[in-house]
Amino acid sequence: MTFLTPRMPSPQRDIHVYPTPHALLEAAARHLLDHARQAIDARDSFTLALAGGSTPKGLYAMLADPPLRSQLDWTKVRFFWGDERHVPPDHAESNYRMAHEALLRHLPLAGAQVHRVPSELPDAQTAADQYEAVLREQFDLSEPDVPRFDLILLGMGPDGHTASLFPGTRAVHETSRLVTAPWVETLQASRITFTPVLLNHARHVTFLICGQAKADTLHSVLEGPFQPDAVPAQIVGPRDGALTWFVDREAGGALTFLEP
Ligand code: 6PG
Repeated sequence: MTFLTPRMPSPQRDIHVYPTPHALLEAAARHLLDHARQAIDARDSFTLALAGGSTPKGLYAMLADPPLRSQLDWTKVRFFWGDERHVPPDHAESNYRMAHEALLRHLPLAGAQVHRVPSELPDAQTAADQYEAVLREQFDLSEPDVPRFDLILLGMGPDGHTASLFPGTRAVHETSRLVTAPWVETLQASRITFTPVLLNHARHVTFLICGQAKADTLHSVLEGPFQPDAVPAQIVGPRDGALTWFVDREAGGALTFLEP
């Protein structure tokens, strides 16, 4: 089921609700492969920013399976991360490690296609600044130009965070940096994250959201007042791009525009 939700002026948003997480991930995999093929046809390249979390991980595992894995020329894909924990790449909590184990190690990739966050650096903001420089280099841009990703994948936590834009952090309102390193009080840890500047310059941004624990938050995000400090996922709205929500029925359980 797809719904166009009239609300605050925002980019083309559409919301797809699926009966199960598996159905959601199958549809999201097709969506990603379609956008990848379109980008490669148009520009001979597909720039993809991965998300962390268990829902995105399920998508990566599905893409790594032979039926889907053989449906794309992966040599044309450049992989990035929309956020990373401030840990080394081999750490159990590393988003890079998660994606490498679930997907990347199964693909015929050259090292130059994979651009992880240098999260092993002692200072998180230095890692963010270096990553920002890598992004501009990879997109052949100089300041103040902003890279335009073909697709950025995002999850959302029960607190409404997305990437590593957490409630009450200044990063939610960043207007110049592309990548920053907020201290997250609730985690007692630094994170490295794309800022809204980068997120909202993408051609496509796609949320992957499963589980009843997110139902009330998703209702606030999609149907509540605009208050991104409380629910940072609301800050995402590509100015000249498409915003797509892949939601399972549990996470969509509090949305009033869904038929019962
Ligand atoms: C991270 C992620 C984070 C994640 C959400 C959803 O580094 O943790 O980038 O934003 O996408 O927390 O995670 P789940 O899908 O596991 O709920």
